[in-house]
This record gives sequence, C-alpha cells and structure tokens, in this order.
Amino acid sequence: MDGCSIVALVSQKGGSGKTTVTMQLAAGLILRGYRVAVCDLDPQESALRWAESAPAATPFPGRMLRLGGGLDEMRHDLRSLVQHVDFILLDCPPSIEHPNTVGALDLCDLAVVPVVPSPTDLWSTRAIEKLILQRMEKRRGLLGVLLPNRVMRTSLAADVLEVMRDFTLPVLAAPLSQRSAFAQSAVLGASVYELGRAAAAAQEEVDQLVSAVLEHLESKK
Ligand SMILES: Nc1ncnc2c1ncn2[C@@H]1O[C@H](COP(=O)(O)OP(=O)(O)OP(=O)(O)O)[C@@H](O)[C@H]1O
Ligand SMILES: [Mg+2]
Repeated sequence: MDGCSIVALVSQKGGSGKTTVTMQLAAGLILRGYRVAVCDLDPQESALRWAESAPAATPFPGRMLRLGGGLDEMRHDLRSLVQHVDFILLDCPPSIEHPNTVGALDLCDLAVVPVVPSPTDLWSTRAIEKLILQRMEKRRGLLGVLLPNRVMRTSLAADVLEVMRDFTLPVLAAPLSQRSAFAQSAVLGASVYELGRAAAAAQEEVDQLVSAVLEHLESKK
C-alpha cells in the first residue's frame, strides 16, 4: 500500500466498539508489518488507558498519541506523522457533534462505523451515516463503511444485520462476534493476538477485518 492511510472509528452511540476495533485493527496491521500510530481523540482516553496497562511485549507502547484541540491542530500533528507511518487510526468520542469527530471525518480516508446489531444502534447509525454521506459529497477522498460488532447468533441480530444492508454505506464483510477475548484483551492492555490459541476465533475475525479494510482502501485508489 502506497502512502499513509488514515482510518477513523466513529459512531454516535457509546459502547459500539470504537476503541476495541481501533486497538485490534492496530495489532492486526502491525502483525502484517505495517507501521501504525493510534491517536486517541476521545477525552475519555480509553485507548490511552488500554495501552498504559500494556505489557512491553504488546505492540502498543510507543505507538499511542493524544490528539485533539481543533481541526488545525489535528491537521498539523497528522501532517508530520503521515511521513513516518503507513496507517493512522483515529479513535473518536461517542458523539457526532464533537469537534474531534467532525475533524476526523475531514481528515480520514476511511470512516469505520461499528454497529452493534440492536434496534437502538440502528437508529443512531442513521444519523452518523447521514453525516458521513454529506462529508463524502464534499470530499471524494472519504469512504464510509459499517462494521457489525458484538454479533450474537440470535434472530434479532440476524434481522438487524438484514436491515443494515438497506443502508447506503457498504457493510464490511468481516463482522466481529460477541467474544470474551475482545473484552479480556482490553483488561490485559493487549490484543486478541497475545491471548494465544484460546482466542483463535477472535484472531481469525480480526485477520478478516484487516483484509477487508485493506481492500476498501485499495478500491478507493
Ligand atoms: N466484539 C466484542 N465482544 C465482546 N465485547 C466487546 C466487543 N466489542 C466491544 N466489547 C466490549 O464492549 C464495551 C464497549 O466497547 P468499546 O469501549 O470498544 O466501545 P466504544 O465505542 O469505544 O465506547 P465509547 O463510546 O464509550 O468510547 C467494552 O467493555 C468492550 O470490551
Ligand atoms: Mg471508546
């Protein structure tokens, strides 16, 4: 992949998995040999805290940055960063009105919206989709995608996934299931890759997610 790609994790709803996906995606990209920086744009600083508890053997120490303070400042900070890494991941706050979310959508190549397959998440997805589509009209370089997360094998989840196909933004064909490995890796400050064979299914899902993200970025070129 040529140049640096900026991927933002955005959603209106809290707890949809922005920080979880940011960290797993970072780990998966690093495993494939890419240079990755993670920027925490959320005042809650969950991604920074996640990495703070990281043992030295995990990929996160040295890759985490706190960004924010307005679009100009973010643009300035990212400008120097893009020369040194292949991917910048932006973990956004759970609000589409927050200036850091608006800024991230102005700067990123790919906006990934994690969606938990539940009716309330669907309603809030309509709002963020509208915003992303508006931004895509103004800026050809932006692509938005939906990512089903915390997927359970229930008929309600299956119905919601069906409805998600009616959205205008494409749905990434690499959903993440509801798995304890995802929550456990946060507690350890690690990714699912550090959890060994017990987390093989979660690792497989993150591998597929990395491939899907790379494919979408390639397709934009
Ligand atoms: N696929 C998954 N399987 C199991 N647990 C998950 C999964 N994805 C996220 N979680 C758990 O759901 C909770 C919320 O996830 P996370 O913090 O990543 O969401 P968020 O969108 O970043 O939240 P916020 O909006 O508050 O920043 C966490 O406890 C996390 O461990
Ligand atoms: Mg978060």
